[in-house]
Amino acid sequence: MRAKIRGTGSYLPEKVMTNDDWARLVDTSDEWIVSRTGIRERHFAAAEEATSDLVTRAAENAIADAGIDKNDLDLIIVGTISGDTAYPSTANWVQKKLGIAPIPSFDIGAACSGFLYGLILARSFIENGTARTILVAGAEIMTRIMNWEDRNTCVLFGDGAGAVVLEASEDGAGILSTYWGADGNLGDLLKQPAGGSAMPASEETVRNHLHTVHMNGNEVFKHAVLRMQEAAIEAIKLAGLKSSDISLYIPHQANIRIIEATIRRAKIPLEKTYINIDKIANISAATIPIALDQARRENRIQPGDHVLMSSFGAGFTWAGVVVRF
Ligand code: ACO
Repeated sequence: MRAKIRGTGSYLPEKVMTNDDWARLVDTSDEWIVSRTGIRERHFAAAEEATSDLVTRAAENAIADAGIDKNDLDLIIVGTISGDTAYPSTANWVQKKLGIAPIPSFDIGAACSGFLYGLILARSFIENGTARTILVAGAEIMTRIMNWEDRNTCVLFGDGAGAVVLEASEDGAGILSTYWGADGNLGDLLKQPAGGSAMPASEETVRNHLHTVHMNGNEVFKHAVLRMQEAAIEAIKLAGLKSSDISLYIPHQANIRIIEATIRRAKIPLEKTYINIDKIANISAATIPIALDQARRENRIQPGDHVLMSSFGAGFTWAGVVVRF
């Protein structure tokens, strides 16, 4: 019994913000952003959209693609660090907005690894019989949790959602291997300091922009390169495969230079690597499921293909997953 990806879906808000648009707001340039990150534009959610709205759109697309009835779902998992409310979970709002019966629903706070952590959990729930048909999504409205005056971080992120429907299957397709890790000792290098029990919201925290992304970019970069490589290489090994068996690699898209370093070390050619950072920037937990959906819709994934995904994010967290389609 394997956890098979039966359908995928994604949703990107309509509004597009280019590097030149950012250069009108902060001291930056298209040249700096493209050469340091590979990012050219990103999508921004509309004021009336909450993260659960983005997930619901992506989920509807994934459900239609899977050809199932939405009431067949028996679990919803959402990876996000920018959910609608501190509680309930964004997954609960999604269940309401999908208009389906009460089923277990919860969020995962593993930052950019949130979607892959969700896949790893969903795989074990399916393989041990806890659930049969699971919606796993990754979604962020990063524009609500970044400091619009901090050029070090604001230009890096975007908004969007991606989702997959996983189903128990015995046809040989499905998740072949999973690898994950985390190191809380490095948590301070990338965090949103305020709004939790360690630093409750106050006038001062709002004034000092402490409810936004704070990142030591250089340090995060070094760890991201090493852990993305480790996650990719270990997931391939655990699947009993070689790098040359991978048909498509979908990396987390935080920085084109991190992706290039990872594929060099993991021995995956550029033409087998899916890259969309230029169009959507870093959408944390949503990046990989959006790329997966886009790759499928562009016919870059065929039945029997082995797809590798790997991520790195705040925590630090990292993960690698190999799926046979
Ligand atoms: N425009 C122009 N100049 C800028 C900008 C900008 N937008 N941002 C920073 N700079 C300046 C800095 O002030 C600095 O100037 P100085 O030398 O005068 O002090 C200079 O550019 C170089 O800054 P660095 O931080 O050294 O630039 P670097 O090459 O490291 O690139 C970046 C920064 C893109 C953030 C990179 O470090 C990176 O990608 N880090 C990893 C990000 C990541 O993987 N995050 C994990 C996932 S996110 C999550 O989990 C939520």
